[in-house]
Amino acid sequence: MKTVNCMSFDDILKEKTEQIEAVLKTFLPKEEGFQKTVVEAMNYSVLSGGKRLRPMLMAETFSMFGGHEEPIEPFMAALEMIHSYSLVHDDLPAMDNDEFRRGRKTTHVVYGEGMAVLAGDGLLNYAYETASLAFEKAGTLEEYQRIAQALCILGKKSGIYGMVGGQCADIEAEEKQEDVTEEMILFIHEHKTAALIQCAMMIGAILAGADREQVAAIEKCALSIGIAFQIQDDILDITGNQEVLGKPIGSDEKNNKITYVTIHGVEKSAKTVADLSREAIRILTSFPKRNLFLEKLVEQLIYREK
Ligand code: IPE
Ligand code: IPE
Ligand code: MG
Ligand code: MG
Ligand code: MG
Repeated sequence: MKTVNCMSFDDILKEKTEQIEAVLKTFLPKEEGFQKTVVEAMNYSVLSGGKRLRPMLMAETFSMFGGHEEPIEPFMAALEMIHSYSLVHDDLPAMDNDEFRRGRKTTHVVYGEGMAVLAGDGLLNYAYETASLAFEKAGTLEEYQRIAQALCILGKKSGIYGMVGGQCADIEAEEKQEDVTEEMILFIHEHKTAALIQCAMMIGAILAGADREQVAAIEKCALSIGIAFQIQDDILDITGNQEVLGKPIGSDEKNNKITYVTIHGVEKSAKTVADLSREAIRILTSFPKRNLFLEKLVEQLIYREK
């Protein structure tokens, strides 16, 4: 067996992604009963080869603050379910109307729009059922309190003060075109994308027992990572390769989206991605225990092509 020392970053990334994939599978619902089709559509949406970035950021932040395995796993699966539901709904004809995701047909193309709406609803609810399983692993009052706090973060960052709020402003910005300001673009990025990345890292920190100040620093760090992540997504929507990306190029232009990239151009946007990512890494290096893999992961996101 290879030791961690002689493994490349890419090898470790692959191994960790496979581990997350295995964890996710243990929490997915069974495809049976009269609701079988919606469960199939849910599992199709989740098990389609995403990067698993959010559960990975959660697990790595958890380990940076000294946490060990088990209590984090239901939350890793829950957040990936919420992220997957956001993608299923984002791809619907009523939203971005895209037919390709993670290298295959989108959920509504395969199962129909009604079933895709329900698969999203199902994933959102199942996420909370799954995260609540963490209580079964709690032994002390302190652990119960941390899990309760993590559940609050999960709800807030994925709801109207997080991802859903950002998607709302994103849809409305399509009609406002010339009135879209930089402030609105940043609101959209902060909410539709950075919120779930903050959710991932804050839950990792909270479950590992980080203090209030550390959780606030992680929230700030994840904000930079999340904004950079969405700017890079918007760059790749213009310069990317559909085969590599697994989703269509030109979706934003088709939907009349004004993005950070349409305002500032690709070059300046790429610089902003690098600056924000380095700012995030600077915050990561300030904690008592370093996680070099996490720092490298954030660095690599600057150059990602998918
Ligand atoms: C896509 O997220 C949606 C955005 C917030 C830009 P990812 O790029 O993490 O998608 P997957 O999970 O790897 O497919
Ligand atoms: C969507 O942003 C972010 C979500 C909350 C789903 P995009 O619409 O740019 O994401 P992609 O490009 O379809 O993955
Ligand atoms: Mg969208
Ligand atoms: Mg989209
Ligand atoms: Mg996009």
